[in-house]
Amino acid sequence: MIDRAVPDPVLAEPVVPDSTGLAAPTGLTEPTGLTEPTGPTEPAVMTESAASGQPLPGPTLADFEAARERLHGIVQETPMERSRYLSGMLGAEVLLKCENLQRTGAYKIRGAYNMLSLLDDDQRARGVVAASAGNHAQGVAFSATELGIRSTIFMPVGVALPKLQATRDYGAAVELRGADFQTALAAAIEHVERTGATFVPPYDHADIIAGQGTVGLEILEQVPDVATIVVPLGGGGLAAGVASAVRQRTALDGRRVRIVGVQAERAASFVDSLAAGEPTTIVTRPTIADGIAVARPGTLPFEIVREAVDEIVTVSDDDIARAMIVLLERAKLVVEPSGAVTTAAIMTGLVTSDGPTVAVLSGGNIDPLFMERVIARGLAASQRYLKVRMALPDRPGQLAIIAQIVSDEQANVVEVLHTQHDAWTSITDVSIDISVTTRGPEHAQRVLEALRRAGYEPQVL
Ligand SMILES: Cc1ncc(COP(=O)(O)O)c(C=O)c1O
Repeated sequence: MIDRAVPDPVLAEPVVPDSTGLAAPTGLTEPTGLTEPTGPTEPAVMTESAASGQPLPGPTLADFEAARERLHGIVQETPMERSRYLSGMLGAEVLLKCENLQRTGAYKIRGAYNMLSLLDDDQRARGVVAASAGNHAQGVAFSATELGIRSTIFMPVGVALPKLQATRDYGAAVELRGADFQTALAAAIEHVERTGATFVPPYDHADIIAGQGTVGLEILEQVPDVATIVVPLGGGGLAAGVASAVRQRTALDGRRVRIVGVQAERAASFVDSLAAGEPTTIVTRPTIADGIAVARPGTLPFEIVREAVDEIVTVSDDDIARAMIVLLERAKLVVEPSGAVTTAAIMTGLVTSDGPTVAVLSGGNIDPLFMERVIARGLAASQRYLKVRMALPDRPGQLAIIAQIVSDEQANVVEVLHTQHDAWTSITDVSIDISVTTRGPEHAQRVLEALRRAGYEPQVL
């Protein structure tokens, strides 16, 4: 039996609003520019000791294996897909662990089902409660219904409709409270105090971590010679589970697998916490990776991650958007931003590996409208979409000349805004914003050079 960690509900969920509801991701509104993808400039944060030989805190190998048994027939053993494209980039074989294809669309069901199935009859009769605007809500709702337990999920009023609907469809009673997550959480805690229901935390609980760690056991079976596992890191439940299960299982064979955790650079709470030596609350900035935007690591996950994860790297929103496009285009996989951070870390060169490398794609729940914005952003970040502003003499035929230059370079115009009223041009000029699709950075540069050769001064937007 696992020693149950006391849930810390106040710090138990991302503090930014749910960006898949198109509400928050200000990261998408910044100009992109023709910058190169973030290179391997940011040093990885090395954790304290992934090889101390001390027993790890939290679930034991027996706990992880028991969780695996419990989940048998409930969760999918998700596919492991080879990626030639990413393998070429890394210089080692890359395999994708497709938890985006998991039931409910994310790995979250593993921890929720494991914890709920360990509740006694009295706890089951009183029901379970969670506060979430994301994948945790669906994992808890689904698991509770499977086990015949009543579930109540508290969500902020503005939660994205698809998430609300999915949570209801999985059988939960949804209570909409307040404008932000913290208000919904406070209402959930009040409900727990009033009814005696059990609060299900998203990551800071040994039974949740044990369930998430089953991803690690599956990886070891599917890729026995795995050298490196790359895993998203928010509150830390998934990374702690995977790292601990893998560390304990491979120790039996005297083997080591490197574990790399990936955070969003706008919400890298583990980086600060590791530097401080304890879980530390940071101010997060909005990021498209809402699922991993957590201001403070979970207490138990922090203890485990510090010991069992080898290094932590961070990626930008543009890196994530580019990765989502690669996953769509090359691997035919729909992956939400939090799930795509591992691919982003490989693409930016932050991960090095000398053997088979598994990237965990942790979820695929994304609103199609938000996906549309991410695609536009990712194409811009990959320089497959170029938007420039120029001043042109206010004479007939100028627009045709620009169109001819772009067409001679085989680029495709998708949007033109032509105005005489921009204050930045002289009174004898007009301003033109022109958007073209290109085949990538080199092609984009060729278009820019052709415009410059013709005497224009294109400003990349
Ligand atoms: C898709 C996805 N990936 C990763 C995470 C991060 O998990 P953890 O908080 O356990 O680190 C979440 C959390 O909700 C998630 O939804």
